[in-house]
Amino acid sequence: MMANAAALARIPSEEEYPSVHLLLLVTGSVAAVKTGLLLDQLSTERCNIRIAATKAAFHFLRRAQPSMTGIPFQSIITDEQEWSEWQAMSDSIVHIELRRWADLVVVAPLNANTLAKLATGICDNLVSSVMRAWEVRAKPVIVCPAMNSAMWTHPLTATQLSQLEVIYMDPHDKAESTEEKTATPIVATPASAAAAAGVVTSPLPEVAAELSLPATLKESMFQIVGPISKRLACGDIGIGGMATVEEIAAHIRHTMELIREDKRRQFLEAREKAEGAAVPVAVVASPVQPASAQLETKACPVVQAPAPANAA
Ligand SMILES: Cc1cc2nc3c(=O)[nH]c(=O)nc-3n(C[C@H](O)[C@H](O)[C@H](O)COP(=O)(O)O)c2cc1C
Repeated sequence: MMANAAALARIPSEEEYPSVHLLLLVTGSVAAVKTGLLLDQLSTERCNIRIAATKAAFHFLRRAQPSMTGIPFQSIITDEQEWSEWQAMSDSIVHIELRRWADLVVVAPLNANTLAKLATGICDNLVSSVMRAWEVRAKPVIVCPAMNSAMWTHPLTATQLSQLEVIYMDPHDKAESTEEKTATPIVATPASAAAAAGVVTSPLPEVAAELSLPATLKESMFQIVGPISKRLACGDIGIGGMATVEEIAAHIRHTMELIREDKRRQFLEAREKAEGAAVPVAVVASPVQPASAQLETKACPVVQAPAPANAA
């Protein structure tokens, strides 16, 4: 009994339960007030989190909704930091380092302005530069649009999200996943309005009635966690509010597990190669509770998220 208890209490090795590097990009939308609540959702995950935010995002981050984790302002990487860190040829370039470090990027909230930049390749700040340098179709991207209904239903939104999907998702992987998972797709832009505007739209999940999670890592390369209908900050009632933090976290957790599976496979392959024999090795899948998420930045001290009661 004692031995079992001890085994359950131990922290799993990196090989058994690989940690995941999660990069959270926050843009200027009212929904940025939920950043702390999103971090709360991830506090029991074994992952390292770095956060970068646009200048506009800080306006909302400073007015964040109360959360257990809080907003780790001292850790959030800013445009200014990107510039000040580079002083000589030997210095690292923050947006390149971040894209290299991250296993997964989440843009939450993704506002209309940054959506337009990502779709067209504009990279005039840290957030858009990271995305412009992203390893497309190799590392997953999750975007969580948030905007006023008028902006969400504007034809540009569907067009630009479709453009992103084409860039980030291999069409073969998308075809499989779309057929299997999107039973009743809803268009972001009314088809008639889009057609009148001469815009090609693709089906997008306007309201996630039930979670539609990717089955494989390849299918996870581009995920839109669609907005919800609610009373928006402007007072309008309608579609455009960022998906709930629970739904976003479910996508993140699921994608992190797909990344872990891939890392485990790489560990096994490397070990087998090193041993020079194809002897199968048993790997314990997620045997114990993961350690808490860590918020970190390169330049700033590591900030440990407060350990929740049920954390290891
Ligand atoms: C009070 C306020 C709320 C806003 N909320 C949103 C929003 O929810 N979604 C959006 O797309 N833009 C919103 N905007 C507009 C963006 O903040 C603006 O386009 C800004 O330039 C975005 O900069 P960024 O993309 O660098 O973060 C809001 C602006 C203000 C003043």
